[in-house]
Formats: sequence, structure tokens, C-alpha cells
Amino acid sequence: MEKKLEGLLAKLYRNNHLKKLELLYLLEKITYLKADLLFAYARKTRVKTYQRRVYLRALVEFSNHCRNNCWYCGLRRENKKVERYRLLPEAILSCCASAYQAGYRTVVLQSGEDKFYTAAVLADLIQAIKKECPGMAVTLSIGEAPREKYYRLYRAGADRFLLRHETVSADLYERYHPGMSYRRRLQCLKELKGIGYQTGAGFIVGLPGQTDEVLAEERLFLKEFDPEMVGIGPFIPHPETPLGNSPAGSVEKTLILLALIRLLLPEVLLPVTTAVNTLDRYGWEKGLAAGANVIMPVVSPAACRRKYEIYKNKAGVDYAALPELKRRVEKAGFELDMSRGDSYKRLQPAERSGWGRIGAG
Ligand code: 5AD
Ligand code: SF4
Repeated sequence: MEKKLEGLLAKLYRNNHLKKLELLYLLEKITYLKADLLFAYARKTRVKTYQRRVYLRALVEFSNHCRNNCWYCGLRRENKKVERYRLLPEAILSCCASAYQAGYRTVVLQSGEDKFYTAAVLADLIQAIKKECPGMAVTLSIGEAPREKYYRLYRAGADRFLLRHETVSADLYERYHPGMSYRRRLQCLKELKGIGYQTGAGFIVGLPGQTDEVLAEERLFLKEFDPEMVGIGPFIPHPETPLGNSPAGSVEKTLILLALIRLLLPEVLLPVTTAVNTLDRYGWEKGLAAGANVIMPVVSPAACRRKYEIYKNKAGVDYAALPELKRRVEKAGFELDMSRGDSYKRLQPAERSGWGRIGAG
């Protein structure tokens, strides 16, 4: 590998930071075949914080109704071909209870933007989950909402919130999200963080129009916003959307970006997302080797899974039973950790030194 590239990687590993032009140079020059050194640095960095642990999150996709019309997503409101469903709170609670029994200590409640689930309904649900599943962390992934709703759900016990910013380019954002505003998106993220949620941002890799320059800005945005979690995944076209004929994003590029994000934000919780695993049958293994440390298996009822079709052929493998998951994670040289897996940033110094015990909890 050429000297300049090696020098930049070493600097990134040392300082967890690079200037925009340096990042751009890395992005343009590094190819998957030459990325071994990058991945090795990313793994060393994650071992320093999270060791070899891989945290699991039980993902409950509880409604595929959505009032938005994002150009890339199969759940957009103008897609009349998708069969819509909603799980009632009792059904969601029972999914969480089964996940709890299986050992999960984080549940992610995900849906389109669906007004059916008011603040009152969700607050009751969160309280019920906390009561029935003591010690379970609750993560919400339900899109934009007024600050009061975010606040009320936080007060009800929600711990974390995932809201991808989708793209850092205001132009691209507004092109692909009719009726939505980039400023409002960022404001939501700031509000979530301000309220106290462990907050997750993230973007889609390979959205048509996304250049390396936009990707360099993505990393700078993340470095500045400093979220506890970052979710990224390759774009996968869905035929019933305006972007149905556009080419898919690259898994290789996603892996390179995962590694760069690990290096820029050493303490971040970084999932190998379903989109990676959909396009590549060894997606989990490759993602973990690139510095990711979270896997989010879908646990909603089988009848719903097929209908939660953000993109076509969403990976079946994510529904794998725990023993299969454990086998794959261990074979890749990591260990499953069923604890809550809070952000390293949130742990007190004393807890950090007793980290081994926490992980075992
Ligand atoms: N390809 C890849 N990711 C997608 N998402 C939505 N549609 C697609 C697609 N076609 C992502 C968005 C959203 C998350 C739940 O799924 O980033 O935030
Ligand atoms: Fe709705 Fe989210 Fe899909 Fe956009 S990406 S249409 S907000 S479910």
C-alpha cells in the first residue's frame, strides 16, 4: 500500500480524526482489496473499548404504515402494493416478553411514521415493557415527532432513539424526502440528544447522487454530532419506488465506511445492518471484521416480517435462531453479549474498570 495512505491510516488510528481533504483522499484511494490495514486498525480500536463483544438487539417491526414518501423506501405511502399491518400493544408486549425470555436485554421498537401510536399509547407500552421485562433497554425507531412526544416517551422509560439523518446533503435530503425538511431532521436529532436519549444517527450508502465528497462530509458530521450509535447500510432498490431502477449501493464501500466510523468514533455502537446482510451472505462476519459490534435480529411475528419490506428480499438470515448466531459470531472470533450493551460513553469511570462484570450481566 502506498506510503501516504498508510500514513493517513496510522494518523487516523492515533488521533481518531482527520481533516476533510485527508478523509476524501482515503475514500478515493482505498479499495476493498487494500483495506486490510484499515480493518485491522478498526478492530484494534473496538477491542480497546468494547473488547470482542457483539451486542444483540431484538428488533420488533410493529407497524409498516408510514405517512412519508421517501423515494427509496418500499413502505412509502404511495406504494399501494404493500400489505399494511399494525401490531397492537399487547402483541408488541408479548414479542418483547419472548425476546426477554430468550435472553435479550435490548428491544428496538421500529415502525414507519404512524400516527396510530400516540404518545399515550407508546408511553403505556414502554411502561408495561419495563414492568414485565426488568432491566430491558427500550430503543425507539419511529421517525420524527414533536419534542413533547419524544420527551414523554423518555419520561416513560425509553432509553435510546434511532433516527438516521439519511444523508448529510441538504439537497439530496430534500430531493428524496418530499415534504420533509433537512433542518427539521437535524433539529429532531438535537432534541433527542438534549432530552437524554442515547441517540443513533446514520445514512444510506450509495444513494444515487452521493459522491465521495458527500461521504467525507458524512463522517465529519458524525464526528461533530457524536451520536452513541450509528446505523449505515447500502441502498437496495425497491421496484415499487421512484429509485427502483437505480443500482444498489456497494457492500465493500459500506464496510470501508464502517471501519472509518469506528476509527472516528471509537466508542460508538455500530451495527452490521440488515441491508449489509441482505446483499452479502457473510455480511455479519465482514461487518464485525470491519469494526462493527452490534447485530439486530428481527423478532417480530413471522407473518409481519415479509410485509416490512423497506427493500426487496430483506435478509432471511436475520431471523436466525440464537444458536446459529452464536456459532457464526464465535467462528468470526467474537463473543455474543446479551447484556443491555449501553454506550461506553455513558458508563462511569468505575463501571468502565469493572467492565468485565457488566458485560457478563
Ligand atoms: N435501501 C437501504 N436502506 C433503506 N432504508 C429505507 N429504504 C432503504 C433502501 N431501499 C433505511 C433508511 C431507514 C431505515 C429504517 O432503512 O435509512 O432509516
Ligand atoms: Fe417511512 Fe422510514 Fe420508509 Fe421513509 S424510510 S417511507 S419514513 S418507513
